[in-house]
Amino acid sequence: MDSPAAPPGPRPIEIAPSVLPADFSRLGEEVVALEKAGVDRIQWDVMDGRFVPNLTFGPDVIAACRPHVEVPFEAHLMVEEPDQLVHRYVEAGCSLLIIHAESTRHLHRSLGRVRELGAQAGVALNPGTPAEAVANVLDLCSLVLVMTVNPGFGGQDYIPTMEPKIARVRRMILEGGHDCDLEVDGGIGPATVQGATRAGANVLVAGSALYRDPLGLEHAVTELRALATAAQPDTG
Ligand code: DX5
Repeated sequence: MDSPAAPPGPRPIEIAPSVLPADFSRLGEEVVALEKAGVDRIQWDVMDGRFVPNLTFGPDVIAACRPHVEVPFEAHLMVEEPDQLVHRYVEAGCSLLIIHAESTRHLHRSLGRVRELGAQAGVALNPGTPAEAVANVLDLCSLVLVMTVNPGFGGQDYIPTMEPKIARVRRMILEGGHDCDLEVDGGIGPATVQGATRAGANVLVAGSALYRDPLGLEHAVTELRALATAAQPDTG
């Protein structure tokens, strides 16, 4: 079944914090603090040490945090062979699973599997992967994630040359009439969010920029949302 037609106008700006910089010894309290700070969803950067040279959250960690907050959880699956894991992250309470186009030989089937499990499907593109890699799966996706760093670690510098790719993906979504968000992840903060939003992003993943704000999480979330809203094009 194709995704529903897109509603008219710009898509709502959403702030999706990465919990990578959070205090892992207090993750339950950390997700509560993020919800209180006004985030729209929480992104779990799932890393397997193979697709990226880092290891992070198993499904049980996410399941332990699920009851503490109401905001949706999304799993950014930076893993090889995601088909083996998707059901575990749905069971853990993630309502959106983001699969890297580079991580599966059968991307269309993997995204369809996520939808069969009752979750929303998203597709992610590493900086070196062209926008056209998602052209044939947009009808299955609720979100496209254009990485603005090479995945694996937080605190990296934003790659501004990704902005033409963001704009290309946005055009593909609009031309196809897909009800699909465009998310960016990596180096997103006050100095970079307007370029990414102007190019077409409406869901902003940020980790370091939120946690390093001396005025706290709520100030950081509010500022990022205001900057993005001010920069968002009228065309959606
Ligand atoms: C990279 C990670 C990071 C993280 C956010 O694999 O996905 O992009 O979410 O990192 P910063 O600290 O750049 O916001």
